[in-house]
Amino acid sequence: MFPESTTGYEECKATADWLLAQVPVRPLVGIVCGSGLGGLADMLKDPLVINYKDIPDFPQSTVHGHAGKLVFGTLKGKACVCMKGRFHLYEGYPVQKTTLPIRVFKLLGVETVILTNAAGGLNQDYEVGDIMVIKDHINMPGLAGNNPLVGPNYDRFGVRFPCMSDAYDRGLQQLAHEVAGDLGYSVFMREGVYLVVGGPSFETIAECRMLRLLGADAVGMSTVHEVIVARHCGMKVLALSLITNQVVADYDSEKKANHEEVLETGELRAKQLEKLVSNIVSRIEH
Ligand code: HPA
Repeated sequence: MFPESTTGYEECKATADWLLAQVPVRPLVGIVCGSGLGGLADMLKDPLVINYKDIPDFPQSTVHGHAGKLVFGTLKGKACVCMKGRFHLYEGYPVQKTTLPIRVFKLLGVETVILTNAAGGLNQDYEVGDIMVIKDHINMPGLAGNNPLVGPNYDRFGVRFPCMSDAYDRGLQQLAHEVAGDLGYSVFMREGVYLVVGGPSFETIAECRMLRLLGADAVGMSTVHEVIVARHCGMKVLALSLITNQVVADYDSEKKANHEEVLETGELRAKQLEKLVSNIVSRIEH
């Protein structure tokens, strides 16, 4: 009844064991860099870089702004592994494949996952360049049946019906705000609900209006699948959205959403986001 899984426990274990044989680092923190935010991976000390194409059974990055490298190293003395480039539904991967690296993180020993993404601002109080601490999500593809946990459940990872009301760790959200305060970033920090769409086309005006009505503050094409898989296997999650553009929700607007704007804003705010994440990592208690 089910297609042969390529993302089950044994497959993920084989990939993790291969990686553990290549590197001496035993990471407790796993980081996923969003579009244009790969600079975070370059902050790792004593980096050991493995190209996705060399990792057995790993998907490949196909998107401009996503490098396709796994970087092991330390961030302020903490052992980390960092995905420089992630996988999206719109690349044509089955959703289970987009989240395979998260299960590999778990089997590498990761306890806390920090995810970053570029997102469109739906909340009218948000400005381009704001950083939103994600407090909850709306999984549009998931509500329609495209959830990464669809298929056989792997009990060694987690339960069949995992809770998602506590998906985003409250303590880590608090820590993010505290660190942002210490760095003088509070003026551009927000917290809100991230809504994931399948992409790759940006949203229509009518869709943006609908998403606002649903209670979402930001919209993007990633992160939520990874969060669900991370929570399923018991890792703690912190997720941060960089608001790279305001969505177009007005028929009189001349503006058009585009990927270049997303990458440009990423560049402008990237350094501060990197500093925020590295300071958060240094203060995570395991
Ligand atoms: N919509 C969807 N995904 C995005 C956007 C957007 O406006 N900006 C960055 N990622």
